[in-house]
Amino acid sequence: MSLPPGFIDELRDRSSIAQVVGRKLSWDSRKSNPGKGDYWSPCPFHAEKTASFHVDDQKGFYYCFGCHAKGNVYSFIQETENVNFMEAVEILAREAGMPMPERDPRAQEKADQRTVLVDIMEQAVQFYRLQLRTNIAAKARDYLEKRGLPEATLEQFQIGYAGNNRNGLFQHLTDKGVSPDDIVLAGLAIKPDDGGNPFDRFRNRIMFPIRDARGRCTAFGGRAMDANQPAKYLNSPETPLFDKGRSLYNYQPAREAAGKVQSLIVAEGYMDVIALSQAGFKHSVAPLGTAITPDQLQLMWRITPEPIIALDGDKAGLRAAMRLIDIALPLLEAGKSLRFCILPEGQDPDDLIKASGSKAMQALLDSAQPMVKLLWQRETEGKNFDSPERRAALDADLRTTLNTIQDRSIKSHYGQIIKDYRFELFRQKRPEQSWGGGKDWRKKTPQKATEGLKSSLLAQGAQADVLFREAVILLSAILHPQAALENETALEKCHIHTPNYKEIHNALLANLHEDLSDDNAAFDLTQKMADSLGYNPVEYLGELKAVRTHPYLRIGADKTQIKRTLIEELTKHAAILGALHEMREAEEELSGMADESTTWRIQQATEARNLATKTDYGNKDDSGDDSENLSEGLQKMLDDQIWVKKNR
Ligand code: UTP
Ligand code: MN
Repeated sequence: MSLPPGFIDELRDRSSIAQVVGRKLSWDSRKSNPGKGDYWSPCPFHAEKTASFHVDDQKGFYYCFGCHAKGNVYSFIQETENVNFMEAVEILAREAGMPMPERDPRAQEKADQRTVLVDIMEQAVQFYRLQLRTNIAAKARDYLEKRGLPEATLEQFQIGYAGNNRNGLFQHLTDKGVSPDDIVLAGLAIKPDDGGNPFDRFRNRIMFPIRDARGRCTAFGGRAMDANQPAKYLNSPETPLFDKGRSLYNYQPAREAAGKVQSLIVAEGYMDVIALSQAGFKHSVAPLGTAITPDQLQLMWRITPEPIIALDGDKAGLRAAMRLIDIALPLLEAGKSLRFCILPEGQDPDDLIKASGSKAMQALLDSAQPMVKLLWQRETEGKNFDSPERRAALDADLRTTLNTIQDRSIKSHYGQIIKDYRFELFRQKRPEQSWGGGKDWRKKTPQKATEGLKSSLLAQGAQADVLFREAVILLSAILHPQAALENETALEKCHIHTPNYKEIHNALLANLHEDLSDDNAAFDLTQKMADSLGYNPVEYLGELKAVRTHPYLRIGADKTQIKRTLIEELTKHAAILGALHEMREAEEELSGMADESTTWRIQQATEARNLATKTDYGNKDDSGDDSENLSEGLQKMLDDQIWVKKNR
């Protein structure tokens, strides 16, 4: 069976060899660099433990430095699935969603038709270019000159001119024997409904040929020169050659240039791409008058892992950026992301380069923002989060948005960064506490600290441990405000379980300011917290014997030791609460169908916990018996296997 010309190439272009191979092998994560399309794994074609099998996703081939096996995506499928070439093509076509020509009996016909149309388009390119040199194009040449396009650029982009007569191109082509139907099919002429003669689609316009990934002209964009001509740009309609949402202007030259500079700029319009290219940024493409589609994103990612989207500095540009975020999020994978560069108000890259030069453009590109930043701006800018309800609504929105990310690892990184942004935002909004000293902060007597800690079969064992740890964290933070400031994010994230410690935690965060002077910092902070709490937090926390007798938890104790204690306990606390959470879930399952997976989870939790508490940053764990309670509780559960239904 014969496949239409170009089918094999197109299918290979559309498939990712890394994706195909990656389904069979696991990459060596240290050696691989997904960002560069560079993957390594142990070779599937000879026995080895090291990773000498190399896949180059950009170039589309593999090579084993051990056994010298090499090939492309087709040979890989042939070798690993033991199929012949045609079957490999079929497998890949199915995955890529490209219908196999054999299932479409008219495929050969269609391919032939495309060849005919490509030829017609090429003739049109030449016709329009010649027209630009004739007398009728004087105004067009003026226009192009005014826009700063020299001869070399006109040549490079093969810019032409469609004259103002009704059927100049149509006449020219039919004179050469081209069938009128094919001219209409190519989108170059329009056939009137009344059955009259077709007329040229493009009249009195500057013509920009649009080419596909292999350089074939598939469409035109035509720019009007008068402001009062109906549409500024007129593009070819969808034709058997042209799928707007799958094409990018200047794709092939940009791909070549991008290989050298490892970058790709995505502008909004033809003129931007041309201006960028003239200014030395040959690695530029543009969509064709529509919002960027998922297919276009995939095309960009085939060139580079992180294209820079350069958007006009107007409302429409910003809106386009925001829409693009929603399109891109579900498609993100390792080595596939975006950066955004929003131009100064009212400018597009063409304007900017004209006004300020290529250095200014470069500076802007260098300052392009990662997509996560734009996402954050979209959700928060110009909004007010002064109430818990509004913050909750923001959290809900963010969760919904982040949930559209399919790649789990990317999703978790996004979550982490958003959390940091969120922390920053709310920290700034926190109200200032009063500075007035000398109040009688003893008038309020707090309840016993342990009250209210969720009593739970499993949590009971951990209760004392958590209580102690939380007291140590808060106290070491108060005693060493500088260290607390350095670990502010961790402190903010630190979930305080003990109810009466929660307000101390809040008061601590509210009063932690850069201006706490070093010498008296601990004292000042205590004073301020006492003012807002109504009691002295240091004394209160010190009511625990284990805290009171802790060697480093005193005013004037060695600062390095206090800092170590703070960091160490924050780390342990996070690990323990993780373990507690596991235990609660396990507990809830106890009545149900607990099984080996429960055992396994609790074992994991115990191990994590033991590991965390064993980590020693230089201090002795001075918590005495208390600290062992959690692991004992867990161990007892494991020993008793209390979640397994006992036969009575
Ligand atoms: P812009 O309006 O930003 O134009 O449209 P531009 O690229 O800056 O062009 P100049 O500098 O005014 O010549 C951006 C892109 O949107 C599409 C075209 O692809 C254009 O390049 N467009 C715009 C249309 O398809 N039709 C239109 O009427 C306008
Ligand atoms: Mn412009």
